[in-house]
Amino acid sequence: MSIFRKKTVTQILSDAAEGESSKLVKTLGVRDLTSFGIAAIIGAGIFSTIGLASYNGGPAVSLLFVFTAIACVFTALSYAQFASTVPVSGSAYTYAYVAFGEIFAWVIGWALILEYAVSNMVVAISWSEYFTSMLSGFGITFPKYFATDYGSAASAFELVQQTQQSGAALSTLPENTRILADAYANAPMLGSLKLIANLPAGAVTVLITALVYIGIKESRTASNILVILKLAVIGLVIAVGAFYVKPANWSPFAPNGVAGVLSGVASVFFAFIGFDSISTTAEECKNPQRDLPRAMLYCLAICTTLYVMITLVLTGMVPYSELNVSDPLAYVFQKVNLNFVAGVISVSAVVAITSALLVYQLGQPRIWMTMSRDGLLWKRFSTIHPTFKTPSFATIITGIIVAVPSMFMDLKFFVDLTSVGTFFAFILVCAGILFLDAKGLSAQSKFKVPYVNGKYIIGLALLVALGYGITSTDFLATMESKPLLFVFWGVWIVLAVQGFRHNFSLLPVIGILTNLYLMTELGASNWQIFGIWLIIGLAIYFSYGFRRSKLADQ
Ligand code: ALA
Repeated sequence: MSIFRKKTVTQILSDAAEGESSKLVKTLGVRDLTSFGIAAIIGAGIFSTIGLASYNGGPAVSLLFVFTAIACVFTALSYAQFASTVPVSGSAYTYAYVAFGEIFAWVIGWALILEYAVSNMVVAISWSEYFTSMLSGFGITFPKYFATDYGSAASAFELVQQTQQSGAALSTLPENTRILADAYANAPMLGSLKLIANLPAGAVTVLITALVYIGIKESRTASNILVILKLAVIGLVIAVGAFYVKPANWSPFAPNGVAGVLSGVASVFFAFIGFDSISTTAEECKNPQRDLPRAMLYCLAICTTLYVMITLVLTGMVPYSELNVSDPLAYVFQKVNLNFVAGVISVSAVVAITSALLVYQLGQPRIWMTMSRDGLLWKRFSTIHPTFKTPSFATIITGIIVAVPSMFMDLKFFVDLTSVGTFFAFILVCAGILFLDAKGLSAQSKFKVPYVNGKYIIGLALLVALGYGITSTDFLATMESKPLLFVFWGVWIVLAVQGFRHNFSLLPVIGILTNLYLMTELGASNWQIFGIWLIIGLAIYFSYGFRRSKLADQ
């Protein structure tokens, strides 16, 4: 059927060589790529959302980082094989075009918008929080009504009113709620409309988009500098913090049990998102087939080590129950009276988060550029600026799409949504390797996922896991409370059967299962929202891409 029409690797490479994008500058080496990867990975996650995850899970969240890293490593190996086979800018979108056909490619491209554009809305809002608190550290008060969204301010105001009417003391409310309520009450008016918007979030997105528009070399230089600063501050936290660790704080290690640890999946996974984004710069690499796989694995190894150490330091410096703050890295140093170090961390967090913004603003237009080249998106998305040699139109659209919602909406729930979309893309990339193997296309890959025959292991592991699960007392109750686990076990059964028949490579299968397991932890409502997102995407595909696709005329 034509919605499953596929592109061959040769076809993709020749399209890339002939098209507008052949004008891109090939300038990136393995160090630049590793630096881009670190720039993308270390951001709002480790500087901010790790606080809530540690508060819920305690010191054992460090193990969740390890488990999540395992899922990411198997995915990174799969990405690396694809990136070395099809070194063009579309990332997972292009890989799906080769492995599964056009409709899957579109669906992945659509899901990647969640990973890049939507996650950047979260990053921009987080940046704004750190930026305004940094200003207040210098004695400058930025008006809160211009540093938040209307919905958050209005609901805080309502909560304050309800509290007052009930006669309870306002001091029972969190400080942040009171600040937001004041922002609502004091916001300037335009007629009857309260003017409330997150201006720093919008402004930083516009500035970063302008940098990305101007050129890849400028972006590379900026990213390299920002990464050095970022690693320095993370090193500072670990090196200084280690002296203030009280091992007593590590006990109990998992105060809220496994459930408490797993409630941090979205935050922890959010902290890892981004290692794949470097594959979108494939057409600007000097030697993508050699350098992309290496860089992906290097940056993942570096970040995992740093994350586990940071979690242990944070939860060792203060009791985990104090970590429910939006700036945990700075907070723990205030608690041990190292205010200067706390100040340095706040300033550097602004820098660190800026570099994460940069990479996603760079990645999103390049994916759109590739989709447009294939005819699935409007042609203008693949025009390259004559002077700056960047996908200019797509870059501007990315800027608008990220800047506007980040100014007006409370996007905290998008942390979850971003994670669902990214897990989905990761699972399909791992599955794609099984397809490459089955179709004999792996022979074209310069880098291959190490092959371990999963013929028996996948099924045996399933039996062991099921046996262990069924004998545990709360198995049925867990299955009842988390129906998504049925999907997980169902997929495992299919993989065991097909793996036995086709000698599946074990590592991509582990990638699929670990990602899927973590995805089930995100809860049904996120899956539903993601489902709606996919339906909208499919409607667009059938009304445009299906007929305009380059493959449609062949
Ligand atoms: N990993 C990125 C961050 O934590 C999304 O900001």
